[in-house]
Amino acid sequence: MTPDNDLDLLFDPSLIPTSFQDQLGLDLHLRPLSSTDDSRGHFELLTVLTAAPHLSAKAYKDTFEEIRSCPNTYFTIVIVHRESDEIVGCGSIVVERKFLRNAGLVGHIEDIAVSKSMQGRKLGIKIINALEEIGRARGCYKIILDCSKSNIPFYEKCGFKHKEFQMVRYM
Ligand code: ACO
Repeated sequence: MTPDNDLDLLFDPSLIPTSFQDQLGLDLHLRPLSSTDDSRGHFELLTVLTAAPHLSAKAYKDTFEEIRSCPNTYFTIVIVHRESDEIVGCGSIVVERKFLRNAGLVGHIEDIAVSKSMQGRKLGIKIINALEEIGRARGCYKIILDCSKSNIPFYEKCGFKHKEFQMVRYM
């Protein structure tokens, strides 16, 4: 595994409490996304969510730089398999500033993915718990997400409850 100090990370890793690292097996490592994680399978992992054309290395790096340029907004974490340096899990919390709630902050959980071979090892719930902790540390008053009906039981096990409905209009 490439040591964190040798990577160009999206945010300060100290925002992820060390207790989350301790809960993972010795074979796994939790850290912020790095600008070179396309070479560790980040994009391939995301395709468990939807089929999408592969980004070029430049487009991946440009996207990373764009989200990093929005301070205190995008927090993407990855779980890396130490031996292979491959990414086996990922997820994001995007922090939105509101005018309501005394200019409060809402966290949006997005793009949770665990590689097929690692599903059922409680990595999904650990990713959600770590993102919640980041949201709490940033001061979010609530965290929301959209998911398919089939994933509702997973998010209920993570402590979420059903509220409202999602609407979409594709452009
Ligand atoms: N239906 C019912 N229960 C489930 C499901 C499901 N689809 N998925 C997980 N669970 C349960 C597990 O059985 C476990 O229960 P237990 O604690 O009683 O044993 C608990 O939820 C925690 O499961 P994990 O092992 O942490 O789940 P996993 O690591 O497999 O990750 C995930 C779950 C992220 C949904 C994974 O299956 C995955 O990547 N799926 C494909 C991509 C996807 O659908 N991502 C979510 C999109 S929604 C979004 O991003 C906001």
